Amino acid sequence: MTPANDLDSMDSLADFRNRFVHSPHDDLIYLDGNSLGRQPAAVGQVIEQVVNREWGERLIRGWNEGWLDISGSVGDLIGELLGARSGEVILAENTSACLYKAAVAALRSQPEKSNVLTDSENFPSDIQILRSACDSAGFHHKVTVVDTSSASDPTGALLAAVDDSTALISLSHVSYKAGWRWNLKEINEAAAKVDALTLWDFSHSVGAVPIDVQSDGVTLAVGCTYKYLNGGPGAPAFIYLRSDQDHLANPITGWFGTAEPFSFDASSPPASGIQRFLTGTPHVVSAALIRPGVEMLLEAGMDRVYEKSVGLSQRFIELCDQRLSPLGFEVRSPRDPQRRGSHVAVFHPDAQAVGLALINEKSVIPDFRPPDLLRFGFAPLYTSFTDVDSTVDRIVELVEDGGVDRWRNETPLVP
Ligand SMILES: Cc1ncc(COP(=O)(O)O)c(C=O)c1O
Repeated sequence: MTPANDLDSMDSLADFRNRFVHSPHDDLIYLDGNSLGRQPAAVGQVIEQVVNREWGERLIRGWNEGWLDISGSVGDLIGELLGARSGEVILAENTSACLYKAAVAALRSQPEKSNVLTDSENFPSDIQILRSACDSAGFHHKVTVVDTSSASDPTGALLAAVDDSTALISLSHVSYKAGWRWNLKEINEAAAKVDALTLWDFSHSVGAVPIDVQSDGVTLAVGCTYKYLNGGPGAPAFIYLRSDQDHLANPITGWFGTAEPFSFDASSPPASGIQRFLTGTPHVVSAALIRPGVEMLLEAGMDRVYEKSVGLSQRFIELCDQRLSPLGFEVRSPRDPQRRGSHVAVFHPDAQAVGLALINEKSVIPDFRPPDLLRFGFAPLYTSFTDVDSTVDRIVELVEDGGVDRWRNETPLVP
């Protein structure tokens, strides 16, 4: 195995690490960028600009000086990462609310069909939202959850359930637990054969793996901005809608979804493009904070980001197999990088205690997903190859020193 130091010194993305905020007081290894990305250092200047200059000094004039179209302008930046055309991506609310709007819109365009397909590994909130969308759409849609939890061929299991009654297939492109990655093109093509729509959740894939909505045949997608896009806690989510889908209607109509919100006319028609999926006032401050992270990814280029993501995660998997499996750990993410996102899930019977011990005693932050998985997220802009090796060293030290036992009875509020 090539020494980690050598890989770091050859890494063309290595300098990006210094463009994120790091605490000067610890040797923290942060491997939870798949949950909340690190803060880009440039966020400080954006806060100074948007909070102190624009809000503080320009006050209400800010609406005419960039706030009004901030959801679309930051949306377009994210769109560049997705290979979308300008005007196809907009920021709004959070992923759950965006998913709801998109799902109801899709179902109302398919009244003659009955079935919404998703899988058991999808994010639980997504499954709940799809059920709410069926209740709201006003027809007879119902959600079928295909059990892919132990399927050797999840794609085969899902596609076996697709038929003429399928209105919508909605999946997380990369699953939140095991990190399984669907082949966008394959599922979109299968859906098109039965005239079904697809609705993707890109939360765990945007900024982590290459996506090209045009060549992958994506019609509708949503995603969050606080993971690999480093947009900050509670940052708004985004909706992508292909520009030829003008017949899909936002189910929560409101003034910002009309062409002229400031006409104050309750009968204003919806705006024609993606703007019609807005409802109320944009989250100006948090939208502005998303820019630096997305700009860094665009500067780095998703090809380089992805190449490093695969390098980091493959190295981690190899080290887990060699050094952690004798200690009761087992890699539960797909081994084929084409089938994986940028995090690796590792089983341990006391995963929660291991995670707490790592955070509190070893300055390594992964996260825990019940009942028995630890997730290690590799954000290529700030994770080094040395981080990967040191994490495995620290896990070995922790287990050999009995650290797991010290955390067995703790249960934090957020795992
Ligand atoms: C795949 C996926 N979808 C949706 C969400 C929830 O997003 P939000 O809280 O923005 O609704 C998460 C949160 O981690 C997620 O992992």
